[in-house]
Amino acid sequence: MSNNANMSGKVCLVTGANSGIGKVTALELARLGAHIVMVCRDRARGEAALAEIKQATGNNQLELMLCDLSSQADIRRFADEFKATHKRLDVLVNNAGVYLRKRQTTVDKLEATFAINHLGYFLLTNLLLDLLKQSAPSRIVNVSSSAHTSGHINFDDLQGEQSYGGGKAYCHSKLANILFTRELARQLAGTQVTANCLHPGAVATGIFRSLPKPIEAIIKLVTMSPEKGAQTTIYLASSPAVETVTGKYFIKCAEARPSAEAQDDQVASRLWAESARLTHLQADAVNH
Ligand SMILES: NC(=O)c1ccc[n+]([C@@H]2O[C@H](COP(=O)([O-])OP(=O)(O)OC[C@H]3O[C@@H](n4cnc5c(N)ncnc54)[C@H](OP(=O)(O)O)[C@@H]3O)[C@@H](O)[C@H]2O)c1
Repeated sequence: MSNNANMSGKVCLVTGANSGIGKVTALELARLGAHIVMVCRDRARGEAALAEIKQATGNNQLELMLCDLSSQADIRRFADEFKATHKRLDVLVNNAGVYLRKRQTTVDKLEATFAINHLGYFLLTNLLLDLLKQSAPSRIVNVSSSAHTSGHINFDDLQGEQSYGGGKAYCHSKLANILFTRELARQLAGTQVTANCLHPGAVATGIFRSLPKPIEAIIKLVTMSPEKGAQTTIYLASSPAVETVTGKYFIKCAEARPSAEAQDDQVASRLWAESARLTHLQADAVNH
């Protein structure tokens, strides 16, 4: 446990909450007394995780809501459903992510790593922003990675059509998470809605399951448990120490400096505009 925050009465939405870092995040926030909305794409996996968390914490305020974050129509359906059934949202944890060795495309005809890891965070957050503002002080936590240091935003090939590698696409998407956080925090100045991002560490989860088994096995040997890996997410979601901190990147519950490109405001602003175009959002959806 990274802090003694009291989260009772707070509504926390965690994406990818059925496994790995997201599951531990949901469990620990449930232990702190929060009302948890677990957003998962598969009902059976979601129900199994929910039952486990309920059993471990005794918290009955757990909900499963389904959303496939690779589909913009499904994100919009989910956001509408969430807003119709919830009066507040105190913490949004954008955690769901994939590592895809081979290039895939989504129903929206977008490259899937970029679509799920970045546009999924972008669209879901923007659609829930009014509710987050109404619930302020509130928080947005974006799970990125130190892999962003090998990433680059190539505006001429955002969809990896000219060149695709699983690792490369993953690194680019995790850089996009930090740039998104930076621009979002800038736009949210004065609203008491904070936006921060983090590297969880190298964590033994299922995210690298598309890699050949021997490589996946080696990765598992050098990684920490999801319990340890979730600590910075939990800290940013709940600790009073970071209530007013915004636009920052964290490692091991401490502020850290991301790559030079991750701190480039022009890239952040251009990525925002491109993301708004690709998700059919008004570029000025957030009040400046
Ligand atoms: N593990 C690491 O070493 C590491 C390091 C740095 C950053 N991260 C980041 O940590 C976050 C969590 O990953 P993890 O390591 O905990 O991996 P994980 O155990 O594979 O968890 C990923 C979660 O995302 C969900 N997800 C994937 N695609 C989705 C979609 N289209 N719609 C809805 N949910 C979807 C997965 O659902 P299913 O179970 O249905 O697939 C799963 O619940 C990711 O953003 C990742 O980039 C991980």
